[in-house]
Amino acid sequence: MSMLLEIKGLNTFYGNLHALWDIDISVKEGNIVTLIGSNGAGKSTLLKSISGTVRPRSGEIIFDGRSIIGKPASYIVKEGITLSPEGRQIFPRMSVEENLRMGAYTHKGKDYSSLFDRVFSLFPILKERFGQQAGTLSGGEQQMLAIGRALMSSPRLLMLDEPSLGLSPLLTETIFQLITEIKQQGVTILLIEQNAYMALSVADYSYVLENGRISMEGKGSDLLEDEKVISSYLGGV
Ligand SMILES: Nc1ncnc2c1ncn2[C@@H]1O[C@H](COP(=O)(O)OP(=O)(O)O)[C@@H](O)[C@H]1O
Ligand SMILES: [Mg+2]
Repeated sequence: MSMLLEIKGLNTFYGNLHALWDIDISVKEGNIVTLIGSNGAGKSTLLKSISGTVRPRSGEIIFDGRSIIGKPASYIVKEGITLSPEGRQIFPRMSVEENLRMGAYTHKGKDYSSLFDRVFSLFPILKERFGQQAGTLSGGEQQMLAIGRALMSSPRLLMLDEPSLGLSPLLTETIFQLITEIKQQGVTILLIEQNAYMALSVADYSYVLENGRISMEGKGSDLLEDEKVISSYLGGV
């Protein structure tokens, strides 16, 4: 399998704050790659640097053999990368249907039915809630909507920023099961999480981000057994 996404020597700043230091990351086509790290480590900044909402200062981001660094966010969506952002950021006063349509803004055709069907097969509850205001959904349903909206652009690479944030352990399990299903449909996934246990469990490959630097990497199953990962990210158990 070839690399769908390759990041080399990426540096991102906010003013004088050096948020990402010489990041090297590769994502193989068809894999789930996860990135774990504490609050403030730079996880969201990495996804924003890839999606084009934050402009990196230097480095390379190669997607499917083409450089996308510095390109506008809308171009990057059209290339096949979609970000489901931290905190979901759904439009609460719009309906579920309208939120989903927003995700398909790069879609050229008029026929949304196959796109909707795919989302409904993963998240049947969204079909029931189709006409309802998104702000009235439960936290778990809003997360499903955020992921569903991201899928509406038919991405090759789906990036998820802390999809389990604020969800119960049971709902977190459900969301992770669905993420595995999305992978089985052929979508490559780059997932950012503070919930290290879940993130490492589903991962084909993982990276640990510490103060803006990659401090460790390996197979998810190997990192789950690593002493340092256990003491720093798995509550020492
Ligand atoms: N828009 C911003 N302006 C200035 N500093 C920011 C901004 N966003 C994030 N930061 C800072 O960059 C660092 C990394 O933040 P972030 O990527 O959000 O971390 P994480 O997602 O791992 O919690 C933190 O020190 C944070 O305070
Ligand atoms: Mg974050």
